[in-house]
Amino acid sequence: MKKFLVINGPNLNMLGQREKGIYGNETLAVIEQKIHVEAQRLGVEVKCMQSNHEGAIIDAIHEANDTADAIIINPGAYTHYSFAIRDALKSVDIPAIEVHLSNIHAREEFRTKSVTAAVCLGQISGLGSHGYLLALDTLSKYNTGD
Ligand code: DQA
Repeated sequence: MKKFLVINGPNLNMLGQREKGIYGNETLAVIEQKIHVEAQRLGVEVKCMQSNHEGAIIDAIHEANDTADAIIINPGAYTHYSFAIRDALKSVDIPAIEVHLSNIHAREEFRTKSVTAAVCLGQISGLGSHGYLLALDTLSKYNTGD
């Protein structure tokens, strides 16, 4: 059975309370529940984690190299400047899809730039929590090489 790691970065634990006009009313727990339901439908295994710390996200990416077939990552604001997370994604052999709840291309100038997207298979942005489900669906069909 394919295994995927879903990583949510800084401030995403505040979903449901944080800037609801942009990110919606769903909490991270609700989104993770939807991810688990979709994983069950697709017949894949999924583990979800959230961290506000860059190093913990990097450790999780490294660990996933031995324990998962692919990564789904919303790096939060790290998207826009973390060369360390970019390098971590680049250093592992498994593919990743970058997800953003909001359309980062339609927001402030600083958010339109992702330093991590170029080392991912692709980016899904602006489709709310559905983006995670689309990423999961795509990766369940993607040949990760094993
Ligand atoms: C976000 C977009 C980022 O710019 C922001 O810093 C976030 C959330 C999104 O999911 O839309 O924390 O990654």
